[in-house]
Amino acid sequence: MKKFYITTPIYYVNDVPHIGHAYTTIAADILARYNRLKGKSVFFLTGTDEHGQKVDKAAHERGRTPQEHADIMVENFRSLWQRLNISNDAFIRTTDAEHKKTVQEVLRRLLEKGEIVKRAYSGWYCTPDERFWTEKEITGGKCPECRRPVERIQEENYFFLMSKYQDRLIRYIEDNPSYILPGTRRNEVLGFLKNNDLGDLCISRPKSRLSWGVPLPFDEDFVAYVWFDALLNYYSATRYLAPPGGGEGGFAWWPAEHHLVGKDILTTHAVYWSTMLMALEWDLPGNIFAHGWWTVSGEKMSKSLGNVVDPAAMADKYGVDAFRYFLFREVPFGLDGDFSEEALAKRINTDLANDLGNLLSRTLTMIEKYRNGTIPAPVQARDREGLEGRIRAWFSGESDTGMTPAIDGYLGRVQFHHALTHLWKVMAEINEYIAATVPWKEKDEDTLSNILYTLAESLRLLSLYLYPFMPDTADNIWAQLGLHQKISSLKLQEAGMWGWLKPGTKIQKGSALFPRIDLKKNFRKQAPANEGKPPPPRKSGRKATEKDNLITINDFAKAELKIGRVLQAERVEGSDKLIRLRVDTGGDRQIVAGIGRSYTPEELNGKKIVVVTNLKPVKLMGVESQGMLLAAVDSSGELSVLIPDRDIKEGAGIK
Ligand code: MSP
Repeated sequence: MKKFYITTPIYYVNDVPHIGHAYTTIAADILARYNRLKGKSVFFLTGTDEHGQKVDKAAHERGRTPQEHADIMVENFRSLWQRLNISNDAFIRTTDAEHKKTVQEVLRRLLEKGEIVKRAYSGWYCTPDERFWTEKEITGGKCPECRRPVERIQEENYFFLMSKYQDRLIRYIEDNPSYILPGTRRNEVLGFLKNNDLGDLCISRPKSRLSWGVPLPFDEDFVAYVWFDALLNYYSATRYLAPPGGGEGGFAWWPAEHHLVGKDILTTHAVYWSTMLMALEWDLPGNIFAHGWWTVSGEKMSKSLGNVVDPAAMADKYGVDAFRYFLFREVPFGLDGDFSEEALAKRINTDLANDLGNLLSRTLTMIEKYRNGTIPAPVQARDREGLEGRIRAWFSGESDTGMTPAIDGYLGRVQFHHALTHLWKVMAEINEYIAATVPWKEKDEDTLSNILYTLAESLRLLSLYLYPFMPDTADNIWAQLGLHQKISSLKLQEAGMWGWLKPGTKIQKGSALFPRIDLKKNFRKQAPANEGKPPPPRKSGRKATEKDNLITINDFAKAELKIGRVLQAERVEGSDKLIRLRVDTGGDRQIVAGIGRSYTPEELNGKKIVVVTNLKPVKLMGVESQGMLLAAVDSSGELSVLIPDRDIKEGAGIK
């Protein structure tokens, strides 16, 4: 198919954007950019959801009208998308006159078709979530979603007869395995549909209760329910915001290929939107993909906790591309993930500065040194199958195993992390190729030309595929290779061919792509867990080999390890590293552990840990330690105390 229409949710303007909003929007940007590179006509839509109670309330709290409030808040989204290099083709606001007109047309059409009816209704209403719940759904008078109290409301309202589509929707989801992704979410939706009676959907709100919405064209006492209005944005945008070509080129923009949404709004999309489309007799979208949520240190982000991650601040501090890369490399799209600046910094150092940055700078340095800064011509005769041939095969557009089919497959299934892992695997192969060919020792000039060309050309191609994820970095790599076309102006079909890079091109080596971050300086220094323990004995004069390190089972059995339960923990006065623990290991003992920079005493209280119980006691800062706890330590010094997988009684031995 030639066209590619992708959407993000439209974001409420009651608050400023955070990492959750940035996540979906960058995801859509990656797919939009890749599909443009593939030569498709792309329509990438994002925007804001401006009606409803939440926005109305936020506006009144600030002494503004809802429209004034929306006009101010929308700029936060627009400017963030610019800052994050988002290439959306349009930005829809549900207060746009054209959108409201479509909503009214749809309402009228559904009423005429008998899909909407007026009914007296009494139900449990959650004001903050703006939705009714059935008796069965509420628990203890609380909203099952937000746990806030619900109110009993009785009123006349308009209902969309959603229930009659229940069976058809089940069949549709079953017949179209990629309609809802990932599979786990699809199963959840199917489970819900098969085990519950789908009710009808209340799609109006009496103006007496809420006037901030699209007026029902057939009853002046009501406005449309905000979700009914919001979901229609995906369709209404195709009528007044889609780029020309959709109509002219002989194809309609609707239906969308992908709706990207967060897991919390999957039901509204998979159930409400799908059945609305069925009632309208319009096509269903190709796919609804529900991604997971970001937490911070394991906690939900919230204003009251003060842990909301500001995407613009992250981009300012670490660079837009590093931030974009991190979000899609760290956690598979679809699963929940935990955000930390330290993890981001580590990714920058390893994947971006080491793997990618070093590969570019080594390649350019060799081209400067051995070829005076000019890309040499490859010499076919010197091409050694199994070396250059193997690198070329990763990119060859013809074979099924080439780069384009691989990335097509991953991105078609919205598996960003697989695409990135694949690219890094190729990067590792290229690094191995350098190690295998040892260009700085190569005496044969033709062979050396061949190696240098292979390196430069594979870097050029690699950056073409990295471009959707890190657009500026990819353009920067091209510029350093001496290429001045912007990748956004190219198509994969031509620029993705091996050999596109012209010999004779003058490279322009620039500064490092990603300067390394000093983890020690920027993040807390960590103490070794076993402070106080004598260092391991050195083997005099000889480097230890693996054999030297082998111990017998009897050696190991000398250490007595037991499960202990922390009874009490407190810091050792005057030390930020040491924590004094009272531990029950079948008897009470005191140990002092150097874990104070990774743990607070409170976190340790009550924990079951692993203790070496037959160590000679030592004194640390004057406090006696009768044993040692076990902890794992990573290269940055971050510690993780070992705990048993199942609950087991203190004093249990470890075999
Ligand atoms: N206005 C509705 C969507 C209507 S679409 C027709 C809405 N807006 S929202 O602003 O509240 O949320 C938008 C998106 O942000 C949702 O997809 C939601 O999943 C996502 N996120 C909110 N917090 C998030 C995280 N902590 N992590 C990842 N995404 C999160 O809902």
